[in-house]
Amino acid sequence: STVVADTGDIDAIRRFQPTDATTNPSLILQAAQHEARRERLAAIARQATDIDDALDAVAVEIGSEISSLVPGFVSTEVSARLSFDTEATLSRARSLIERYDRHGIGPERILIKVASTWEGIRAARQLEREGIHCNLTLLFSFAQAQACADAGVTLVSPFVGRILDWYRAEWPDADFMGDNDPGVKSVKRIYEHYKGHGYGTIVMGASFRNAGEILALAGCDRLTLSPALLSELAETEGRLERKLVANDAETSPPEPLDETE
Ligand code: E4P
Repeated sequence: STVVADTGDIDAIRRFQPTDATTNPSLILQAAQHEARRERLAAIARQATDIDDALDAVAVEIGSEISSLVPGFVSTEVSARLSFDTEATLSRARSLIERYDRHGIGPERILIKVASTWEGIRAARQLEREGIHCNLTLLFSFAQAQACADAGVTLVSPFVGRILDWYRAEWPDADFMGDNDPGVKSVKRIYEHYKGHGYGTIVMGASFRNAGEILALAGCDRLTLSPALLSELAETEGRLERKLVANDAETSPPEPLDETE
């Protein structure tokens, strides 16, 4: 799987060097509080015409900085407030692309994140026809995934952890680890269906809660992971690597071949 960082935190992106990065409005808000950027971003936000305009301006500022650090896509989200309005989603998405263009960043580097509602999927279908790539988010079901694939979207982000959260709330004592995790099952079903039917839409697992979910979905096209999970994974890999080296050292050298045999 290609590793994607689910964060607006520039320092984390420098540290983990992911291929792509995904953001959402709350991640952008967190990133905007960073001491090094707060003043500059506040000045940019003050020039905006309204709150949506301010959020978009800040998201594109941060997204542009991220795009200089990753080789692949940067995902920027259309406010979830517009999830049930196709026209509003279309105009917001186009304006985000125009903003990126003013920063010298073309649409081939950007994924516009759109909620996987019926209205969002209709907007995404139109955006893809205009050459604007979309990442369909807030995707929890097979039906949403099927509609996204039929709409020809570039990428879907089926959620893992939020499905697990709901099951845990309902059945607190059940064992939902690894392949028993209902979020993992949902993403696997979508992935297998897409691959089995030749859909070109990329599947990027999102909303992870633990390393077990990541391992169970290794092999999925992409996985977008928080910095906390990325560092957990890096530590696990480090431990694994050390274990392998230790095992090698413990192994006795092979006996010389008996050349008479
Ligand atoms: C990614 O696209 C999503 O914004 C993110 O993974 C959501 O994660 P959450 O369920 O932890 O909010």
